[in-house]
Amino acid sequence: PSETTQSSNSNKEDRNFDALEAQLEENPQTALQQVNSLLADTPEAVDLLSLQARALDKLAEQKHSNKLLEEAIGAYLSLLQRKDVSDHLFLKTADRCINRMRFRGQHGQAITVHKMLITRFPKDPKHRNDLAVTYLMVGRIPSAKQLIKETLQLWPSDGFALVHYGFILKTSENNNEDGSRYMQAGIDSNEPGTMDARFLFHLGDAYNRIGLPKRAEKVYQLGVDRGLFRSKFQRSLYNVDRLTARPWWTLEQTTYARELRKFEEHWKEIRDEGMAILQSHSAASGFKDEAENLRDKGIWKQLELYARGQQITSNCKRAPITCRLISQFPAAHGCRRGQAKFSVMQPDTHVWPHCGPTNCRLRAHLGLVVPSGTALRVGSEIRSWQEGKMFVFDDSFEHEVWHNGTSTRLVLIVDIWHPELTEREQRSLPAI
Ligand code: LMR
Ligand code: MN
Repeated sequence: PSETTQSSNSNKEDRNFDALEAQLEENPQTALQQVNSLLADTPEAVDLLSLQARALDKLAEQKHSNKLLEEAIGAYLSLLQRKDVSDHLFLKTADRCINRMRFRGQHGQAITVHKMLITRFPKDPKHRNDLAVTYLMVGRIPSAKQLIKETLQLWPSDGFALVHYGFILKTSENNNEDGSRYMQAGIDSNEPGTMDARFLFHLGDAYNRIGLPKRAEKVYQLGVDRGLFRSKFQRSLYNVDRLTARPWWTLEQTTYARELRKFEEHWKEIRDEGMAILQSHSAASGFKDEAENLRDKGIWKQLELYARGQQITSNCKRAPITCRLISQFPAAHGCRRGQAKFSVMQPDTHVWPHCGPTNCRLRAHLGLVVPSGTALRVGSEIRSWQEGKMFVFDDSFEHEVWHNGTSTRLVLIVDIWHPELTEREQRSLPAI
C-alpha cells in the first residue's frame, strides 16, 4: 500500500496478520486454509505469500511430509523471484529456503539462492561465505576456493573467509605454510564461525608438518581450553562424552579379552591369509594406498575386511579364517565406526601424528610379521608389535608410526566398539 492509504484499514490488516502469525504457530493447517482463502482475493499479496510458504513449511515438519516441504520450498522460491519483497523479508525467506534445501540435499538449488543473495546484497561478505560453505558441503572445492579468494580481495581481513581459505589450502592442497597462516589469521580474528574444532585440528597438524610443534601444542591447548578437544592428545571430532579415555588398554580392560585372545590363538593362519593376499600379483592384491594424507614418507597399504559394520565380501573370500573370527565377534563386526583390515608397511615409512575421528571405538592390533625398527606411539607412550600378540589402543588419541626397519611389516587391525557404549548407541550412532 502507498503512504496515503496506510489508514485504519491497514491497522486492521496488521491485526489480521498478527492473528495469522499466531495461528501459524498454533495450527499451521488452519492458518494455511485461512491464508489460502485470503489469497483468493489478493493473489499478489507478498505478506500472505510469505505466510503461505511458512505454513506449508511448518505443516511439512509436523507431518514429516517431503511433498509439503517441496511445496514450501517452491513457495519460498517464487517469493524470492518477486520485485516487491522488502530486504528484510527477502533475507528471512532466502535463509529459510537454503536451510530447507540443505535439509533435502538440494545443494545445487541452494546455490541459486545464495547467488540471488549475493547479487542483492553485494556489500555483505556473509552471503559469499555462506555460498562457500555450500560449495564445501557438496565437494566443489575449486569453486569454494575461487569464491573465497575473491572475497578476500574485497575484504582482506574477513575472519570467516581467512580461516576457510587456509583450511582449503591445508586439506586439499597440502599447503601447510600458507594454510596455517590463513587459518591462524582467521582464528585470531575471533569472528563468529572461526573457533571450530576442525580448524584447530588442521592448524595444529599443519604446524607440526612444517616443524613448528610448539605452535601446534599451543593450538591444541586452545582447543582444550575452549572445550573443543577432550584433551591435548585426544582430539577426535565425533565423541560420546562420558566414555573412559585412555591411550592404551589392556585386553581385560576392553572386556573382550576372550574374543581378542582367539585372534592370538589363530595368528599364524591369519598371517598366512594376509601374506598370501599380499603376495598375489601385487597390483591386483587389493591392498590400497593409505589415502588420507597421513604419511610423511613411505609405503603403507591396507586391505579392508569390514568397514562401517559391513563385510567386504570379495576380500573376506580371500581371508576366510580371519573373517570368520571377526564374524564371531559382534563388537568388531558390528562396529559401524571402524574397520577390520590388514595393514602393511614398508621400510622407511613415517606416519605423521594424527587422531582418529571418534572416541567410540578401540583399535586392536595383532602383530603378524614384525621386523625390528617398527614402533607406534599413542599419547606419550611408544610400543612395538610382537608376532602373535595383540595390543589395544584408543586411536582418538594422537598416534604416530615409524618403520625404520628393513623388511615388510604386516598387522591385522580390528576396531571394536568402546565397551561403555550402550547397545542402543551402537545401533543408532551414525557410521563413520
Ligand atoms: C594407525 O592406526 O594409524 C596405525 O597404527 C595403523 C598401522 O598400520 O600401524
Ligand atoms: Mn591412525
